[in-house]
Amino acid sequence: MKELENEDPVKLEEFQKKIDAEQKIEPKDWMPAAYRKNLARQISQHAHSEIIGMQPEGNWLTRCPSLRSKKILLAKIQDEGGHGLYLYSAAETLGVSREEFIQMLHEGKAKYSSIFNYPSPTWADIGAIGWLVDGAAIVNQVSLQRTSYGPYARAMVKICKEESFHQRQGYEIMFKLSQGTAKQKKMAQDALDRWWWPSIMMFGPHDEDSPRSALALKWKIKRETNDELRQKFINRAVGQAELLGLTVPDDELRLKENGDYHFGPINWDEFYQVLKGYGPCNKQRLDNHKKAHSDGQWVREAAIAYSKKQKDKAA
Ligand code: 3HC
Repeated sequence: MKELENEDPVKLEEFQKKIDAEQKIEPKDWMPAAYRKNLARQISQHAHSEIIGMQPEGNWLTRCPSLRSKKILLAKIQDEGGHGLYLYSAAETLGVSREEFIQMLHEGKAKYSSIFNYPSPTWADIGAIGWLVDGAAIVNQVSLQRTSYGPYARAMVKICKEESFHQRQGYEIMFKLSQGTAKQKKMAQDALDRWWWPSIMMFGPHDEDSPRSALALKWKIKRETNDELRQKFINRAVGQAELLGLTVPDDELRLKENGDYHFGPINWDEFYQVLKGYGPCNKQRLDNHKKAHSDGQWVREAAIAYSKKQKDKAA
């Protein structure tokens, strides 16, 4: 592979032996440049996704139907912010600063998950996001708990525990609506129709179209393929939809003998359009992020000044 041409073959072999022996790679360990680069990319994009993912939900904070639901949504959004900070810290151990990551995001040189470029027009969308988006994230992130890079794997353990609460609260919203009036049940069905396919796209392109997967699997950055995780999620979510009495918007869906659900073709044109920045909310999400970042400049400066003062005092 051309990414490995300039690497020391002896070091590369020792590195692969550690990976094969399920040893975690730590920040101070030798690692191929391509391993470092792939992880800095993936972990920082994961962090961007967590932070930008706060926007569709934040849009409903002032409109929650009850104080209880407001408290739950507030807790979830705060969790997502914490996940982002956790992941930026893990990404920074690879030698790139948070500022650089944020700059790449703002310059369109870094991605965040396609899923967060869709609008959340009703309260049922908040339920569908928790149920499906966090549900998909859990499938992906439980697998990432076994990723070969130590800081990333350890960040996943805490994040996965909180994601389960996120998924549960979303499913509860969908359950209440689906058991409610005809209008509420329709709201839930419409939200499922909007979020089903974009949630499936979260797992990335099919394995044969995933340029990152070969090395990611060889180095156990990924423990399962995009399609394996996607299938796991679909198998789980279809049963949950049936429990809600809702219909998955896929006419080709059917249970196969091996227990997997066969599902219809994914609209990859839509996926790549969103990745190129032409999704329904791409511009709004990035503009909001840029504004929040510049509005928060004074907070960062004050925090840095304070910590410097504390260090000078202690010296
Ligand atoms: N959205 C945006 N970009 C995507 C994507 C998606 N759903 N799926 C794939 N891509 C991009 C990849 O980043 C890559 O582009 P890049 O090389 O410029 O980064 C390209 O499409 C090719 O995809 P690959 O499958 O080859 O890339 P990966 O091996 O990185 O696999 C991935 C993609 C499965 C998303 C992997 O990066 C991953 O597991 N990331 C960590 C998990 C993550 O980021 N989840 C995002 C959601 S976080 C979340 O949901 C928060 C929760 O609290 C709600």
